[in-house]
Parts: sequence; structure tokens; C-alpha cells
Amino acid sequence: MIQPKGKLFGLIGHPAGHSMSPALHRELMNHLGFEGAYQAFDVPPEQLEDAVTALETLGYTGFNVTVPHKQAIMKLLDEHTSAAQVIGAVNTVIFKKGSRVGANTDSSGFMRALRANGVTVRDKTAVVLGAGGAARAVIFSLIENGIGGIRILNRTVSRAKELVEETLAKTDFARFMTTELSAKAVANALPVADLFINATSVGMWPDVEKSPCDIKGDASHVCAIDLVYNPVETRFLKTAREAGAKVVQGIDMLIFQGIEAMQLWTDGQIDAAALFEDIKSELINEMETHGRD
Ligand code: ATR
Repeated sequence: MIQPKGKLFGLIGHPAGHSMSPALHRELMNHLGFEGAYQAFDVPPEQLEDAVTALETLGYTGFNVTVPHKQAIMKLLDEHTSAAQVIGAVNTVIFKKGSRVGANTDSSGFMRALRANGVTVRDKTAVVLGAGGAARAVIFSLIENGIGGIRILNRTVSRAKELVEETLAKTDFARFMTTELSAKAVANALPVADLFINATSVGMWPDVEKSPCDIKGDASHVCAIDLVYNPVETRFLKTAREAGAKVVQGIDMLIFQGIEAMQLWTDGQIDAAALFEDIKSELINEMETHGRD
């Protein structure tokens, strides 16, 4: 078999063609100065097992996993990190001496993005909009880093309650409130919130005029964080900024989950601080030149 030079990395999703991860990892490898290739593969659910076997056989170092495979991939792996187990989702697989290891760098990437923006979570109150996979990763990360309390606001309140039940069964953390997502619930939560996090998919391109909520009134005590990274400045962040909030953009978390994955694959320490601003501006440039969808 003729192997390309360097390490091989991939992404499995369905669809996968519009992902920013190949551009992100290309930039990362450029900055780190090593040869390698990162390719996105569109894999429908019924071919997931064959695709994992193929990447393993072809000598890949590891791969990322995105929608809709983050849960389904778990049963195809030999080991999971404790974070992946508690969250119930894997976004990074490492082939390690004959073992397939599943990790979750959405949660660690989220916390590194907060740290890079000077935001701390210990003993604070977080309002989390959403109760899907992205919210799970965020909530795990908040608990692991000493959050004081979490209010989950979700369109389907039963889903928020399920998330709480599962988390209570897996961790010692119990300071939760769940409410249906509404303008009133947002207004009630705002005064007590330190962190206000959009972990729904609302506001993502092309629905850029949409927002899970508009933040009204004084939000100068709040840090608003959006997991949506396309567009870079969502309507949610724009209204929060106008209300005086500090903001953290979703693209920061995207970059840090990629840095964390690359660290796992290469067993290396990456000086992220030195790379972050350059990679961010290159990715924004890429989004603007190659279209947004
Ligand atoms: P992900 O893995 O990206 O979190 P998901 O598991 O499908 O995706 O979850 C999407 C989240 O966005 C959910 O919290 C969903 O609310 P429901 O649980 O009520 O479905 C939320 N969401 C999606 N579209 C929404 C909308 N138009 N308004 C409010 N919330 C929405």
C-alpha cells in the first residue's frame, strides 16, 4: 500500500461536506509544522461500522465524529474516556495499539474556550438553552469545573428533565432547575445568570435572523456564549453584546475542540495560546471566501 506522508486523520459525519474541521486541522498542522492529511467522509448510519474498520485498516491515527454518529459510534469502540461515558457521546476516536478509544473534546474544548476568554465558572450560575447533545457536553464541563448551579431552559421541557435525571445518576451534582424556554423564562433567569449559553442549534446559517432568545435589559453582569459558530456573530450574541454582556463566540470552542483532538492524536502538548488568534482569523476568512453553507 502506498501511504501518503505523515499522519492520517478523518471526520465521519452525514452530511460531512460542509464541515469546517478539514480547514481547521489543515491550519493546525501548518502551524505545528508536521505533515499529515485530514479528510471528511460522508458516511450514512448503515455504513458506520465498515467506515471505522476501513480507517483502522488504512492506518489512520484517529478521526472526529459528528452528527448523527456521536452516540452510535460508542458501541463500536473498545474504551471510552470518563467524560465521553458521562456525556454519552464521542466526537474523537484514537486508534491506540490495537484499541479504539473514544473521547469527547466538545466538553474540554468548551472550557478551554472560556479560559482563553478569561471566563471562570467556579460557584457561578449558568443558564443553558437546549438539552440535546451539545448541551450535555457543556453541562458535563460546567459540573467538572465547579459550577454553582445550572438552569436548563428547553423548548421541550421533558427532554431537559431527562438530561437532569441522567446527570443525577452519573454525578454528585444536584443544583439544577429546568424550565420551558420562553421570553418570560429568559427574563426571569437573566438577573441570576453569570453565564448564558446557547446550546440549541437556533441561529445557525442560513437561519441567521433567528435566535433562541433576545437578551433584553441590562446584561452587563453576564457572559453570553454561543455554540453556533456559523455565523461567527449570531443574533443571540449580537443582542447580548448590545445589552452589555461579554461574549464568547462558538468558533472559539470549535478551534479548541480541534486542538484538544490533535493533542490526543499526537500525545503532544500544543501551545494553543500562540496559535489561536491566527487560526481564528484564517478560519473566518475561509468561511467568507468559500461560502457559509
Ligand atoms: P445537538 O446535538 O446539536 O445538541 P440536538 O440533540 O438535536 O442537537 O438538540 C438540539 C437542541 O436545540 C434541542 O435542545 C432542541 O430543543 P428540543 O429538545 O425542544 O427539540 C433545540 N432546538 C432546535 N430547534 C429549536 C427551535 N426552533 N426553538 C427552540 N429550540 C430548538
